[in-house]
Amino acid sequence: MDVLRKTADLALDVWPGRLPPPPDELLSRAAAARGLLCLLTDTVDARLMDAAPELRVISNLAVGHDNIDVTAATERGIAVTNTPGVLTEATADFTFALLMAAARRILEGDRAVRRGEWLTWEPEFLLGHDVHGSVLGIIGMGRIGEAVARRAGGFNMRILYSDVQPNRRVQQELGAERVDLPTLLGGSDYISVHVPLTPGTRGLLGRCELRMVKAGAVLINTSRGEVVDEEALVRALGDGPLAAAGLDVFTREPLPTDHPLTRLDNVVLAPHLGSASVQARNAMARTAALNLVAVLKDQHPAHIVNPEVLDE
Ligand code: GLV
Repeated sequence: MDVLRKTADLALDVWPGRLPPPPDELLSRAAAARGLLCLLTDTVDARLMDAAPELRVISNLAVGHDNIDVTAATERGIAVTNTPGVLTEATADFTFALLMAAARRILEGDRAVRRGEWLTWEPEFLLGHDVHGSVLGIIGMGRIGEAVARRAGGFNMRILYSDVQPNRRVQQELGAERVDLPTLLGGSDYISVHVPLTPGTRGLLGRCELRMVKAGAVLINTSRGEVVDEEALVRALGDGPLAAAGLDVFTREPLPTDHPLTRLDNVVLAPHLGSASVQARNAMARTAALNLVAVLKDQHPAHIVNPEVLDE
């Protein structure tokens, strides 16, 4: 807000609600806007863009931009910006927190303590699985995937990854091996998803893929819920082969409290907190504001999703 307030000639209309503005409210309030700083909970589609003829920039306070119709924006000459980089390490930390919590059953332990089910030290009480020395499969070796791989190096994990593009740095520095998806699924003890949501990755892990998973594997998802078929996931957690999951993202957010996932003890559920550290969120907010101001001042923003719009 400081960055925006200090920008001359910028009249601000700030949505005051905790919940996102209803679509029609967003549409009418954006109608006269030249810039829109939005959250991943705001759907920014062609209808909204057509209702806002002055719009020059849509600045998303997120790295993912699947809430924005980027093609429609590009067609209308509207810049779309995002906040990569500043949340990479925080999201990788959180991925590891979920991985370890799921592997070592920390939430089940917490619940047992609170419920008075911790009766004594027992040799086989709440046994989890080793993280160190195991195999981690990373789906999507971009910035966040790589940051997760670096953490895995500290746990002496062997790293497999699948990606449309090779990442030579992780291969050379961490000995990560690029394999196809079925090999990754069948050979990993832990599988962590780090692809953006695109038409090509929607449902990437469906029923068939989840059946290929090694028995006893743990799935972590901090990317987007729609990359994994949730119905198939519930089945794979109930009947196998998955032993557990750590999930930060869901097809429908907030996850309905009666969703079948909420009934499974072997799932750690988080409310989309991947980048939720004070430092990362401050940096994201600042980046989003600076991106917006840059476009309005005819400067190149630090991060733009459709640079062709500015090159014209
Ligand atoms: C959060 O999910 C983001 O895309 O930044």
